[in-house]
Amino acid sequence: MNTNRLSPSIEAALNDQMTKEANASQIYLSYGSWADSRGYGGISNFLFRHAHEERNHMMKILEYILKRGGTVKIVAIPAPPPDPVSVNDCFEKVFGHEVDNTNAIYKIVKMSHDQEDWATWNFMQWFVKEQTEEENLAISLIDKIKIAGGEHAKDDALYSLDRDLEQTPDDARMAQDVTTENP
Ligand code: FEO
Repeated sequence: MNTNRLSPSIEAALNDQMTKEANASQIYLSYGSWADSRGYGGISNFLFRHAHEERNHMMKILEYILKRGGTVKIVAIPAPPPDPVSVNDCFEKVFGHEVDNTNAIYKIVKMSHDQEDWATWNFMQWFVKEQTEEENLAISLIDKIKIAGGEHAKDDALYSLDRDLEQTPDDARMAQDVTTENP
């Protein structure tokens, strides 16, 4: 008896999205390492915490695929892109990655709608909401660096921005605490 409640195309799309979230985590780890190597400990810490959130997103999708009787396919994670050239570039790239991820999520929402897979459609609504928050967070980073002077930001402005981000709260939690209901 087939107990897989996911269509082959939705199962494949969810597996791809799982890898995309893992890739996002690697990107934040990479950018966080770059920031630390430039002396921006606060920005680095912020990016590392966000890497953790992306990993949680990956786990949330993995658990959903299993819960629906599907098959999880763990594949190689693409390497992150080259390092940013400045804090301004870093924040712009973060925004670009988030928009790209939002578009990928919208495609799964549309696919689940077209296939009348209401369980997946409902599951994906969490990600739609999350992406709105993540894009908003990325926009706030761009606003902060713009106020600090953008590409021409001076050291003292970058210093305050770095300290500010050290204290910015986020949703990062330890992976072992994460469940499908409580990502
Ligand atoms: Fe999991 Fe930043 O999206």
